[in-house]
Amino acid sequence: MKFLLAALLMSASVAAHAAASDPIVSGRDYHSYAEPTAFRVKHLDLDLQTSFEEKRLSGVADLTIARLDPNATKLVLDTRDLTIRRIWWIRGATDLVPLRFTLGVRDPMLGSPLTIDVPAQDVATELKIRISYQTRPEASGLQWVAAAQTANKTDPFLFTQSQAIHARSWIPLQDSPQVRMTYSATIHAPPGMRAVMSAQPIGNNSGELEPSGVYRFEMPQAIPSYLIALGVGKLEFRATGPRTGVFAESALVEAAAKEFAETEQMIQASEKLFGPYRWGRYDLLILPPSFPFGGMENPRLSFITPTVIAGDRSMTALIAHELAHSWSGNLVTNATWRDLWLNEGFTVFLQGRIMRAVYGDRREAMEETLDLATLQKEIATLPPSDQVLAIDLRGRDPDDVFTQVPYIKGALFISWLASRFGDEQIDKFLHDYFDKFAFQSISTEDFRAYLEANLLPLKPDAVKSTELDEWMKAPGLPKSAVLPHSDAFERVDALRKDWLAGKIAATELPGKDWTTHEWVHFLDALISKLPTAKLEELDAAFALTAAGNSEIAFSWLRIAIRNDYQPAYPRLESYLTHIGRRRLIKPLYEELMKTPAGAARARAIYAQARANYHPIATASLDGIVLKDARR
Ligand code: BES
Ligand code: ZN
Repeated sequence: MKFLLAALLMSASVAAHAAASDPIVSGRDYHSYAEPTAFRVKHLDLDLQTSFEEKRLSGVADLTIARLDPNATKLVLDTRDLTIRRIWWIRGATDLVPLRFTLGVRDPMLGSPLTIDVPAQDVATELKIRISYQTRPEASGLQWVAAAQTANKTDPFLFTQSQAIHARSWIPLQDSPQVRMTYSATIHAPPGMRAVMSAQPIGNNSGELEPSGVYRFEMPQAIPSYLIALGVGKLEFRATGPRTGVFAESALVEAAAKEFAETEQMIQASEKLFGPYRWGRYDLLILPPSFPFGGMENPRLSFITPTVIAGDRSMTALIAHELAHSWSGNLVTNATWRDLWLNEGFTVFLQGRIMRAVYGDRREAMEETLDLATLQKEIATLPPSDQVLAIDLRGRDPDDVFTQVPYIKGALFISWLASRFGDEQIDKFLHDYFDKFAFQSISTEDFRAYLEANLLPLKPDAVKSTELDEWMKAPGLPKSAVLPHSDAFERVDALRKDWLAGKIAATELPGKDWTTHEWVHFLDALISKLPTAKLEELDAAFALTAAGNSEIAFSWLRIAIRNDYQPAYPRLESYLTHIGRRRLIKPLYEELMKTPAGAARARAIYAQARANYHPIATASLDGIVLKDARR
């Protein structure tokens, strides 16, 4: 009772900065000002103009809101850097009654609460309001990409990235993953350009360009705000199956359609295991290389980095991953960002199941083994409090705490359950779990209760509650974890050893036959300091400095920096100025910053590259590259 009272009395901003010693309230969203127990947004209708000249979205958001607390008359929404022009109560069908509102002080992480005085309950339990607003050019959830940074280099490109708390920078709403809404939208794009959204296009479905530039969308399933997404560009479409296809610039669309031709197979594998795909179509949008992530699971339309178009389908695990979110994440959603592992850990597990079904055990074993190595390296750098599945994010920006822990440790937890209960029982458990919580948002504690009620009784001695506690609460990897293993990598390890010992020459390595995975494993486990002659030998044999594969290039460039291998520097510079995917650039800057000469190089490259990076990328890179710059 005391807890409840304390929770109710705390204002959102105070709560967000609560001392780490206060107990966490399970299910409470510390990253939103909204009060979803008083009001809940049920439907959003957008009508937005896109101005590339001004780097601005402007228009209106109509919100249909249920009042849960009959006495509530102050509606609080999340915003960040929005210019709010006017707000009305929509009375009846057309009658607009102006409402008073205040925009609170801007918190650097949370933005500004928008508090609106709405009419009292006796007037209506369901309210409709209209907000006229516009975004700012620096909106954290938008990137206005210049034509020069696109594949075709002829037209600019706009895309959104709402996860985790960026939807509020382009739409005023309750920006919390526990509030689900349906949405509709009218987007006015410049003539000749196409708008796409995480929704069903109305009318013309992916066919001809709309000469008017006006595109309409409808999202009939209720989704959380972080899945609302928009892309505007010179986009073409290629079908890859009856319900799958790719949107991309013309320079990329054929390559993308080939690379991702197996998407329908992936959907079928997934449906067989986890139940029907409930979102209608599944298309991909290929973004410019500045997209800060590998992929983003926007429903019906995953957003994908072009850096995975390798020509050999070696990085399609990304598609399996984003597709898997159609169950884990988009259907059953984390209630707060602390519960992110329910989205990402489950998704990595499902991804593994899909990849195994489509590509077989050998490849999946390699991918899991690479993931494990990444996790172990990262865990070694993290404080214990960030090594737990449900990380305490109070007072912290979710973007700054983005680690492999919720992903890989989360997936290893489910794999461990599978090792105790058997694959069949786990797959059935997950299938039922997705049915049971479909279109709901749940917390870590909700999941544990469900697990204890529905899985554990099936085999009462299979797991001890101390083991469960270790997985769900302790830092690090439990000793009982079942670790992946790859025979292919054992062969690579043996060859690496022989090459390092001088027993074989680089030209004798079977590198030409290696997959991306084998190359990455070969490179990532090289000892940190190598003689220049060794690097030259390897580079001469396999042209690694010129590698077009973004993952192999990444691993090679990291080694090059570590060893101050001069011939790779021009490539490093072009890599860092061309790609903005955070996972591929942040570690390179970090590696550079370890020496004074490297730091100078990092700053010089960053000075050129920064303007083309996404706000989410610069937010983390500024702290790394610019940290001592003034000295
Ligand atoms: N939903 C995530 C991306 C994300 C997570 C954005 C948290 C913002 C906050 C997406 O599904 C993802 O995990 N992408 C990975 C893909 C990889 C694990 C295959 C990425 O971008 O690297
Ligand atoms: Zn994910």
